[in-house]
Amino acid sequence: MSKVVILNHPLIDHKMAKIRDKRTGTKEFRESVSEVGGLITYEITRDFTTTPKTIETPMCETTVYELEKQVVIVPILRAGLGMVDGIHNIIPTAKIGHIGLYRDEVTLQPQVYYSKFPSCIKESVVLVVDPMLASGGSASKAIDILKKHGATDIRYVGLVGCPEGIKRLQEDHPDVSIYLAALDSHLNEIGYIVPGLGDCGDRLFGTK
Ligand code: URA
Repeated sequence: MSKVVILNHPLIDHKMAKIRDKRTGTKEFRESVSEVGGLITYEITRDFTTTPKTIETPMCETTVYELEKQVVIVPILRAGLGMVDGIHNIIPTAKIGHIGLYRDEVTLQPQVYYSKFPSCIKESVVLVVDPMLASGGSASKAIDILKKHGATDIRYVGLVGCPEGIKRLQEDHPDVSIYLAALDSHLNEIGYIVPGLGDCGDRLFGTK
């Protein structure tokens, strides 16, 4: 069973308050989503392995530690883009892939319309980013695709999840740890998380 980490941190809660409030405008919403992306990154990377290296400070020789594995950030289009800059600010050496999904109108299953990943994906830590872990269908499909491309060390990063999405992701991908800023009550009948924050893509990009 995969690990689920719900970030319990006053700074994240404070920013989530802004993000959830329907009065928050596009600019502040976008900035806050990105900032929470950055703050979550500290927790996601807590168990990353490092390699020692000898350098000289202005004072003397010493041992320092650098991240051992390359990091690849893969936002699920389009809402995932909102968290990328915040994560990238903390791990500027990370490479960025993209995956675009749409829902087939007949089967209602997520279908891939775009994917592009860096060639190092097999040996990297891959952070799949989508702010809303709702039904879990898109995240699960994105992770299927990443595994087909050879990724083996994958973590899911989001803002808000619900029990339905967590259950689905844990069943489909028990090896993928889940990191969220908040865990909400449930999914409603039209697939929105309650209390949630509404349509994250629309709020990020001002499309409503
Ligand atoms: N996607 C969103 O943007 N919001 C939800 O509540 C669920 C899925």
